[in-house]
Amino acid sequence: MRVLVTWGSKHGGTAGIAAIVAETLTARGHSVVAVASSEAPPPTSFDAVVVGGALYANRWPREVRRYVEHWAPELSRIPTWLFSSGPLDDSADLEPLSPPRWLRGLGARIGALGHEMFGGRLEADVQGFPAAAMAKQHAGDWRNPARIRAWANELADDLPSAVPRLPITPEGRSGVRLVEYGVVGWGFAAAALVIAAGFAPLWFAVALHAVVMPLWFTSLAVRYQGVDGARTPFVTAIAWVGLAGVLDLALVAPIVAPRFSLGASFVGLWLPLALSFVGVWAAGSIAAMMPLPPSGGAAPTGGAR
Ligand SMILES: Cc1cc2nc3c(=O)[nH]c(=O)nc-3n(C[C@H](O)[C@H](O)[C@H](O)COP(=O)(O)O)c2cc1C
Repeated sequence: MRVLVTWGSKHGGTAGIAAIVAETLTARGHSVVAVASSEAPPPTSFDAVVVGGALYANRWPREVRRYVEHWAPELSRIPTWLFSSGPLDDSADLEPLSPPRWLRGLGARIGALGHEMFGGRLEADVQGFPAAAMAKQHAGDWRNPARIRAWANELADDLPSAVPRLPITPEGRSGVRLVEYGVVGWGFAAAALVIAAGFAPLWFAVALHAVVMPLWFTSLAVRYQGVDGARTPFVTAIAWVGLAGVLDLALVAPIVAPRFSLGASFVGLWLPLALSFVGVWAAGSIAAMMPLPPSGGAAPTGGAR
């Protein structure tokens, strides 16, 4: 069978894992094309695909994420397996580690047949921040060639009869859910403004709104990201802040301040929107990284290549 093995890697460790997978599948009689995702051909001319990515802050490198996103409809019709390389300890060998939430959602969307987590590698002389800083504490090669080969052999066993799973769009990806959260976030802040304006000076109500809105949106971002398939924090921030800005101008400004130009008000509109954007993006990014794989543990296994 024709198999594409493709990967996203920054420092070569994941490429080494992919090479072992490719070698094993070739030894089992398959015709394998192994190439980095930045140069990978469309998956359409293959009978099966194996895609892997190095984890950085629990995300794969952009080019491999984009490859899977771009070809998602095609991949959902081809048996596809995923793997990640990351933990700089022996945790990946001790027990099966779940993929990050975003990858679980992406895997469900393409009907992936499985995901495997392998230990990673960080060289002591790696260049660039923050890798070099991290290498001071965590340098080592935790890839386990025997386990990688065993996994690839399982794939080779399964390949002849493999069919993709039914692709599922995770509930968390729903556009309605995104808008619902945005409206709830805006509604709470708007209510605080309108109620406060009813009994307190307008300046106080506007200042309260400038504090409440970012805090409320930030807490919603954490909750929103806690589900598979949630939109990226950046897209979430744009959607919510855009929605809140339009609703504020259309509905709140005429009620609270008929003679006061909310649209021209820095503290009334632009500051809370800007802080909300930063809060949703930052808190959402942190929440999307959870749960982090456990760390600590014994000596490295000696590495792939
Ligand atoms: C800045 C930085 C962040 C990392 N973040 C994670 C992480 O979130 N989860 C994880 O399991 N490993 C993490 N790692 C470990 C890498 O995934 C590991 O070194 C991997 O083998 C690198 O693959 P590559 O050589 O193909 O780029 C991180 C490493 C660095 C340098």
